[in-house]
Amino acid sequence: MNIERFDNEDVLASTLATRLIEALSLKPRIVLGLPTGRTPVALYREIRSRSQRGHVDWSQVRTFNLDEFVGLGAGDEGSYCSYMQAELFSHVRIEAINIGMLDGRAANLAAECARYERAIEDAGGIDIQLLGIGANGHIGFNEPGEALEAETHVAVLCAETRAANAGLFGGDLSRVPTHALSMGMATILHAREIVLMATGAEKSAAVAEMIDGPITTRVPASFLQVHSRVTVMLDRGAGARLA
Ligand code: F6R
Repeated sequence: MNIERFDNEDVLASTLATRLIEALSLKPRIVLGLPTGRTPVALYREIRSRSQRGHVDWSQVRTFNLDEFVGLGAGDEGSYCSYMQAELFSHVRIEAINIGMLDGRAANLAAECARYERAIEDAGGIDIQLLGIGANGHIGFNEPGEALEAETHVAVLCAETRAANAGLFGGDLSRVPTHALSMGMATILHAREIVLMATGAEKSAAVAEMIDGPITTRVPASFLQVHSRVTVMLDRGAGARLA
């Protein structure tokens, strides 16, 4: 793993935005895997402000988001679809047809997961997968446990993951869905390149276990150790427990 440390999350976001925009210019039909959550907010802010200044051609870019809450979809408060529209998609000239999102309202969730796997494959696979990390070591919604799922699947959310997402639902934990659709571990690990961002001291234990600990289903992010092109970008807080 290639570990990079930054003084703060703004420098991290600006560095990553520069790299992504360069990658877009080198490969206009790039396929990006995208996370939601608090961590990428600064990155999306930076990317949309540079895009609005007109330097970025989004016309052929394709994206696949990591996950979505079961029961929620386009237009629903708290959905990751709404988050992505607000934070990025409605501010850049991406074609709607090129945006890949899981539909948490699909009548047949297993079929929706299979559709997503096929769509990623049909797009030629993910070139750059961006990730955040949960304080419990999850990536996507691959939560710690006895076993992990390889492909896109229905995930049961841990109590701490639901609590971490309460802000999307006005702070009301009872409104946070109990399940989500998520790319699986193999879906993520098949990406040609992976960039994981972590900011804040509350992520420092998970970051240390991911990098220095054994590969274990108890820390799903530790499986990134087997991938040959992973960059981990950390602010001071998130890197505080590394040797
Ligand atoms: C979100 C996702 C999650 C988050 C993780 C960190 O799409 O897949 O794995 O990246 O929960 O969330 P934040 O950034 O809110 O701390």
